[in-house]
Amino acid sequence: MNPFDFNTKTVLLNSGHKMPIIGIGTYTLSTTQAEESVYNALKVGIRLIDTADIYGNERGVGEGIRRAIQDFEIKREEIFITTKLWTSDFYRADEEIDERLQRLGLNYIDLLLLHHSAPNDEHAYQAMERGVAAGKICSIGISNFYESDINRLMNIATIKPAIIQNETHLYNQSRSVKSYVAPLGTIMESWFPLGGRGNGISTLSQNEIVTSLATAHGKSPYQVILRWQLQAGNIAIPGSRNSIHIQEDFNIFDFELAESEMQRLNALDRRQRFASY
Ligand SMILES: NC(=O)c1ccc[n+]([C@@H]2O[C@H](COP(=O)([O-])OP(=O)(O)OC[C@H]3O[C@@H](n4cnc5c(N)ncnc54)[C@H](OP(=O)(O)O)[C@@H]3O)[C@@H](O)[C@H]2O)c1
Repeated sequence: MNPFDFNTKTVLLNSGHKMPIIGIGTYTLSTTQAEESVYNALKVGIRLIDTADIYGNERGVGEGIRRAIQDFEIKREEIFITTKLWTSDFYRADEEIDERLQRLGLNYIDLLLLHHSAPNDEHAYQAMERGVAAGKICSIGISNFYESDINRLMNIATIKPAIIQNETHLYNQSRSVKSYVAPLGTIMESWFPLGGRGNGISTLSQNEIVTSLATAHGKSPYQVILRWQLQAGNIAIPGSRNSIHIQEDFNIFDFELAESEMQRLNALDRRQRFASY
């Protein structure tokens, strides 16, 4: 059963915290672009922001949040900020968490993810658990993890991951890893929800089933793809540096894909990844 609340546009995580189900991604955005996109996203009502140390734009993300809080009377507690620990910081994760808070200009992070499985990831996961105990992090999770590494990590974990963030879209629906983490209460968050910045996005948005459903619902192909993500139980964080696209990507709560339409989209799965990593 889909645990998402489409009225509040949130899901209750296994950590006890609520997380928005649609957000803004900031991969490949410069510091200035990230600041503008985050600011524009918060302006239209988006409350979930995804960044990472390795994107090099956390200061811009922090500045976009600061400006939006000031201009739109949004409270910090209404915004959900996700960032990630890069593999080279795994051995010094405790220190990195403190430095991260400073860089983002925050006194807590809503969700911190291990960016990839790698040596020292168990140490880093335990550091994140200490961060939760110290009130520096609300929820923790993993990204780019698959079955055997999840199993290894769960042998030492005391907190189950709230989120797994993996490449997930119509052509790579991540069914096996989703079933694997379901008993942990871990929710899938899709990266490359639209297919990514390469040819993936045109492949998906020009798919005939997607375009026919877009016509039938009077929505864009991108909105159909994102609506599929949510109805499939995946949190989506489409990346964009275009304020019109950002607004369009959030405007997916006034239509619903019927069960038969979901089945047609589910049948597009072919385990085809668009990223090279
Ligand atoms: N954990 C990981 O390893 C990992 C890896 C990759 C990404 N991520 C996260 O996931 C987020 C999403 O992935 P992504 O940004 O790489 O790919 P994506 O969201 O699948 O696609 C981004 C592309 O979609 C375009 N786009 C967005 N909305 C559109 C619309 N309404 N109409 C037309 N084009 C639209 C963007 O162009 P415009 O800028 O022109 O709108 C951009 O070219 C990232 O930003 C990042 O936060 C995580």
